[in-house]
Amino acid sequence: MENNIVWHDHKVVRSERAENKSQKPCLLWFTGLSGSGKSTIANALDVALHNRGYHTFLLDGDNVRHGLCKDLGFSDEDRVENIRRVGEVSKLFTDAGLIVMSAFISPFNSDRRMVRKLFPAGEFIEVYMDTPLATCEERDSKGLYQKARAGEITDFTGIDSPYEAPAKPEISLDTSCSSVEDCVESLINYLLERKLIAS
Ligand code: ADX
Repeated sequence: MENNIVWHDHKVVRSERAENKSQKPCLLWFTGLSGSGKSTIANALDVALHNRGYHTFLLDGDNVRHGLCKDLGFSDEDRVENIRRVGEVSKLFTDAGLIVMSAFISPFNSDRRMVRKLFPAGEFIEVYMDTPLATCEERDSKGLYQKARAGEITDFTGIDSPYEAPAKPEISLDTSCSSVEDCVESLINYLLERKLIAS
């Protein structure tokens, strides 16, 4: 269907924005159950990169759902739309030259694949927080698992809503047996090896 919307090329292109910052943009996409450590590790990596002088940005499910996605709930359809929006926003931030960390349950393989396709090869880094459900439930930092088990909230991921584990994530981390520092070190080493950061 004709929608009369034409793409407008920008004068300053993506690579020039990144060059001005002397860095290579990429997206680290943290996926996993609620309580698996996505926000904690993404935040700790953000601090580590920021302290090294890199220009970063962090997008987090709980926060984004207060604004950009506050009209969305937790049905399958709403989660698909949540990830679509956040994927596009992540892309815009990398276009601006930033190293982006996005922490969302993002339970469906198809949605994560959709976000991956928005990025050139090597720029989308899927970080699977492979912390067992039992540990996440034991932590229950927000008291939501207890509510889900009691039937007070429905469609809760891992309880009565599915989570599809990534088949081939770039990185897997398990915060039930690795410390925050070890997880950050693994991520920093990955970025160094791929020459996405220099120090
Ligand atoms: S996603 O599935 O659409 O990717 P997102 O990461 O944005 O989810 O939001 C997850 C956060 O919302 C959880 O960390 C939790 O605090 C909160 N939440 C509230 N209700 C639910 C629910 N039914 N399922 C999962 N998380 C929920």
